[in-house]
Amino acid sequence: MSDYINKIKEIFSQRETPPLCFLHSFGCQQNVSDGEKILGSLVKMGYGVTEDMSAADLIIYNTCAVRENAELKVYSLIGNLKKLKENNPNLIIGICGCMAQEEKTVENIKKSYRHVDLIFGTFAVRELPRLLYEVLSEKKKAVDINEYSGEIPENVSAYRTDRIKASVPIMYGCNNFCSYCIVPYVRGRERSRKPVAVLNEVRELADAGYKEIMLLGQNVNSYGKNLENPVSFAELLREINKIDGDFKIRFMSSHPKDATTELIDAIAECDKVCKHMHLPLQSGSDRILEAMNRKYTTEKYLKIVDYARSIMPDFSFSTDIIVGFPNETYEDFQQTLDIVKRVRFDNIFSFIYSKRTGTKAAEIEDRTSDEDKSRWMRELLEVQRDITDSGFKRFVGRTLTVLFDSESKTEGYCSGKSDEFIIVEAKSDTSVIGQWKQVKITKAFNWALQGEIVD
Ligand code: 5AD
Ligand code: SF4
Repeated sequence: MSDYINKIKEIFSQRETPPLCFLHSFGCQQNVSDGEKILGSLVKMGYGVTEDMSAADLIIYNTCAVRENAELKVYSLIGNLKKLKENNPNLIIGICGCMAQEEKTVENIKKSYRHVDLIFGTFAVRELPRLLYEVLSEKKKAVDINEYSGEIPENVSAYRTDRIKASVPIMYGCNNFCSYCIVPYVRGRERSRKPVAVLNEVRELADAGYKEIMLLGQNVNSYGKNLENPVSFAELLREINKIDGDFKIRFMSSHPKDATTELIDAIAECDKVCKHMHLPLQSGSDRILEAMNRKYTTEKYLKIVDYARSIMPDFSFSTDIIVGFPNETYEDFQQTLDIVKRVRFDNIFSFIYSKRTGTKAAEIEDRTSDEDKSRWMRELLEVQRDITDSGFKRFVGRTLTVLFDSESKTEGYCSGKSDEFIIVEAKSDTSVIGQWKQVKITKAFNWALQGEIVD
């Protein structure tokens, strides 16, 4: 690949100023992290990075395919780029990420969005120099949606704009085939990075002064199972915890079927690991969980929650819920409400089921009406609002550890996230931004906490 990088650099050496690239990532943090890798690779080729699309010589949309809405939005944005291309024929337009990995998207773009020059899937990031060289030198379109196997490339560093928080992918792909989910089809089978690669990256970030490191994977709980020398995620956490530095560790996402008491023990024992877990429940009905192919029951889910809280009473859980899986009934949905009330999540991300062609669930004839689904969604949001309201009050009078990351909308205040992943704001000048501080909570809103910095 370095051959292509050199060839591209040669093309650019004729220019007076370096070319500029603009990239926007949609969807999950894994995708955002891929976007940082793509930018890292472009910088290596000689590109500068711009946030001003109209100044860019290369525009890339890094897309998400998890729900239909996200896809429709991307199509409308690509449509809008046609004008820019007409005004600047040298502009290169690229589409990558999960949508680009799908055959149907490639066909659609080739047919209806002819101004797109470059399409590459989630595996082909490593091939970007070759693909871009083809576009630049031969002025032809380049498409690559092959599923590359073999070692995970470790030769490109992420281009990071955030100086406080950083994400580190620890694994790629997913083996679970939840029946509604397109991810295993567009991101392939689970591949874990070697522990030494992860540890080195975290060490570098800690040395560079990063205060929060988010370990990423579709299912971090099954990290390391397929390595030549298998390692568990709990073991990885313990190793990362030993790295020197004033930083905390988060991770995302976990799968309840692989969440073990060993993992909870590791979280409890590791002082750098935040006492929060995003543990997607998806549904509170065992019947629906089975139809979703989730491979756990609500009983197993609650066991993990109860175990965590038995040793860390304030442990915070957030979750994802899908409302309106095909043929879900109101009784099923009520079981979801029951478990939501029982667990008292600090935050939930809820989605109306979106049919994804190619998945098992897409084959089910769905008799549940859209009106029912929307009504249930509103009911869930209302129930959760009350839970957050009263749940947040438990922190009033207590002191939380908060990483400040920005100025708050409230004048004279800064805001950040607590160890429990709850938004906290406190009166302060901007000097606290980028620091972990102790904050005594004085007030609870239903979206955030307010307090005074005590240390
Ligand atoms: N429809 C709605 N929500 C979905 N998710 C994944 N696939 C779908 C779908 N087809 C949600 C799940 C997952 C989150 C990232 O997105 O809740 O945890
Ligand atoms: Fe999709 Fe399930 Fe894999 Fe998550 S675990 S990415 S929901 S298939």
